Amino acid sequence: MNIVVIHQSRSGNTKKAAELLGGAVNSPENKVTVRSTENLDFKELANADLIFIGTWVDGLILFGHRPGDIGKLNTIPPLWGKTVVAFMTHAVNPGKAASKFANFLESKGANVISSRSISKSKIESEIRPFAEEVLAGLSSH
Ligand SMILES: Cc1cc2nc3c(=O)[nH]c(=O)nc-3n(C[C@H](O)[C@H](O)[C@H](O)COP(=O)(O)O)c2cc1C
Repeated sequence: MNIVVIHQSRSGNTKKAAELLGGAVNSPENKVTVRSTENLDFKELANADLIFIGTWVDGLILFGHRPGDIGKLNTIPPLWGKTVVAFMTHAVNPGKAASKFANFLESKGANVISSRSISKSKIESEIRPFAEEVLAGLSSH
């Protein structure tokens, strides 16, 4: 599969999660690239079989949770027919940001098969199981 991992990150946590995700899904069968939203390759996206898209949780900690930097995420082209996984990183409370992010990506045409926010303190331990779960879900279809 051609896999692209896109990240929108301010302080580096989501970028780190993206790089670990890229490593976790890399294999002889999978060609993986990891990119920021500022460095998108539209042709590569058009050829992707699976796209992970990540950003940070913006909010007021207790409420108002939403995907961070939505304007930059909007520079991602339409995703009609694309299989997409939404991931986020947060500090203490993601609220419903991950499902809002999934809705946003679906409004761009994506078929979102999974969405999750990971605590920034657990990126290293939780990214690989998340990646394995996504790949296992794909191969069972
Ligand atoms: C303006 C702002 C608002 C935030 N709001 C929340 C929040 O409501 N809940 C939360 O758990 N983390 C919140 N965070 C923390 C970030 O989601 C968290 O640190 C994330 O890992 C940052 O990702 P990045 O390093 O990729 O930018 C907020 C951060 C910023 C800058």
